[in-house]
Formats: sequence, structure tokens, C-alpha cells
Amino acid sequence: EMTEEEMVKRVWKIKEKLGEDLFLPGHHYQKDEVVQFSDATGDSLQLSQIAEQNKEAKYIVFCGVHFMAETADILTTDDQVVILPDMRAGCSMADMADIHQTERAWEKLQEIYDDTILPMTYVNSTAAIKAFCGKNGGTTVTSSNAKKVVSWAFTQKERILFLPDQHLGRNTAYELGIPLEQMAIWDPQTDELVYEGDKEDIKVILWKGHCSVHENFTVKNIEYIRATKPDMNIIVHPECSREVVALADYNGSTNYIIETIKNAPSGTKWAIGTEMNLVKRIIATYPDKEIVSLNPYMCPCLTMNRIDLPHLLWALENIEQGNIVNEIRVDKDVATDAKRALDRMLTLS
Ligand code: 13P
Ligand code: SF4
Repeated sequence: EMTEEEMVKRVWKIKEKLGEDLFLPGHHYQKDEVVQFSDATGDSLQLSQIAEQNKEAKYIVFCGVHFMAETADILTTDDQVVILPDMRAGCSMADMADIHQTERAWEKLQEIYDDTILPMTYVNSTAAIKAFCGKNGGTTVTSSNAKKVVSWAFTQKERILFLPDQHLGRNTAYELGIPLEQMAIWDPQTDELVYEGDKEDIKVILWKGHCSVHENFTVKNIEYIRATKPDMNIIVHPECSREVVALADYNGSTNYIIETIKNAPSGTKWAIGTEMNLVKRIIATYPDKEIVSLNPYMCPCLTMNRIDLPHLLWALENIEQGNIVNEIRVDKDVATDAKRALDRMLTLS
């Protein structure tokens, strides 16, 4: 058994030895014990762009969750190997939509609305769903470009199907001026479209999925901060519910949250509604500001946390010994169609 100190030393050694052959991107939600080794950190959009731009690395050891590693594999060349240090690092939101449910939904929605819908998916989804969107003229979207991409979608079709996060979809459409009455929910459990009013008025069809981390930030949490700290700013991720986003002062991607707090004057107060590792890191980085988690119990993403120092070291030691473990390889046909969706998004952002 190695101590943590020994593991840290081993990782630095392997990094030094592999040099440019190895690239380690890390999502902002990763643990500090992993992020300390990251060659780049970012939100989902930035990590996609960084993966696409990297042409040197033979091995991309992705510190994030499965859908992010799939995206990296789709956007890199065939001879670049993408590795996820723990295959159990999934995303409960991405798991809320599978391709069979999506195809079933699409068939029914075509019966109701003919050819008036553009499908789009949050990058937090399987490669197969990205491919489905790519094949049907649609696109992917992230929280940092959602408004731009949804606006573009409405230049293509009268309606959108937004997978799999109802909250990002609803928050984005609402901020673009679409009233809640013009949004319907597709329930993949019952294969039903749920809406009020006239079906012809529906502009946005939201998939009934959500993030199990961000659902922990509630209206009650906001009311408590407003009552006890009236001069505190509240900033949340748009994976939070509409009610929470409406009551918050700011909302945006992980990168937006970091930049907003970084640029805020010393002495300002902030309550943050997003994943725990990032909140803790922001608190430690800006001791001149009073910063708390919007939910006082802190909210970890358990699957992000599966990427830890021992798993990272294990993946790297295998590379060192000429073994590839936990390779993420998206089927070629799926990758080609998914890339069409990703390219549309990357061109728009
Ligand atoms: P962003 O980093 O793009 O804001 O996404 C947050 C998230 O939940 C990733 O799973
Ligand atoms: Fe998925 Fe939510 Fe975790 Fe992001 S924070 S990876 S959306 S479960």
C-alpha cells in the first residue's frame, strides 16, 4: 500500500516521463487530489475545445465523467487514445435518456408535429444521442452556449426537442423570452407529452431529466440566505430548477461562476449553487470574499468523485507499462454523426 504522498510523487514522475505524449484535462468538479495534475481545467465547452485542439498527445487521460471522455474521443484523431480512470464515473443525468427512448419519442413527436422539430442535446448525454441529433439536423449544447445555440435552432425549425436536462432547457428558453406555457415535457417513462393549453403553441419540448446534484439547491435555501444575509449574492448553475434560477442573482456554467466571483470586488459575499469540489476550491482561492455553498450541507457529484488519486495512478502506471486500460472508443458510425452535432455547436460558439 502506497501513502498518498508516494502516489502523488509517482504521478508527477510518470507525467514527466511521458511529457507531451500525455494530456490530462480535468473538469472543475474534480477533486483537488486529481486537479493538481491537470494540464487544463474548464467547463464542458472548454474541455471539448481543448480536446479538439490537442494534436500532440498520444494518451488523453480524461478526469471527468464518461460523456466527456466520449466527446474527447469523437473530437480527437483516431490514433489518440482517450482513457477514463474509472469506468463507473458516469452521469446520472446522462443516464436519464437512452437512444431507444429517444427514437421512440421522436417517432411519436413526428406524428404530432410533423417535420417542425429540431432535436438538440446537452453534452451531458451518450454519444448515441449526440449522433441522433447530428443525423436529424440538430446540435449539442452546453450551459455556456445554450442561449446562442437555442436561438440558432429557432432559425431552423419552429420547435425544439431539448434532451436530457429539463432545467437547462427551461431556463434557457425562458431567458430567451419563451413563456412557460409554450413548453411541454416528454416523459420517457410513460412515452407521453405533457402540456397545458393548445398543442400548436408548444415551442419547446423538454426531456424529463435532471441533475441529481443540482436538484439539492432549493427555494428554501435561497429564502434562508435572503433572510440571514441580505447583502449576499446568489449564483447558481442553470441545471438548478427554474424557481431557484429565477430567485438567484446570477446563473451560468462552472466557468461563468468562477469568473464572476474572481472579478467581484474584495469583501463581497457569495452563496454558490453548484457541485461541492468546485465550491470548496473557490472558497479556498478567494479568502478575501465571504463564500458559502447555497445548500449548507454541500453537494458532491458522486460519479465525478470516482476519479480519485488511486484510479488516476493506476491508469497512468498501465500506460507506463505499455498497457491501455479503460479506453473510451466510440463506434465509428456513431462518432461521425455525433461529430456533426458537436461541430455545429463549436462553430456557433
Ligand atoms: P459545465 O462545466 O459545462 O458548466 O457543466 C456542469 C456539469 O454538470 C457537467 O456535468
Ligand atoms: Fe451529471 Fe450532475 Fe454530476 Fe454534472 S453534476 S456530472 S450533470 S450528475
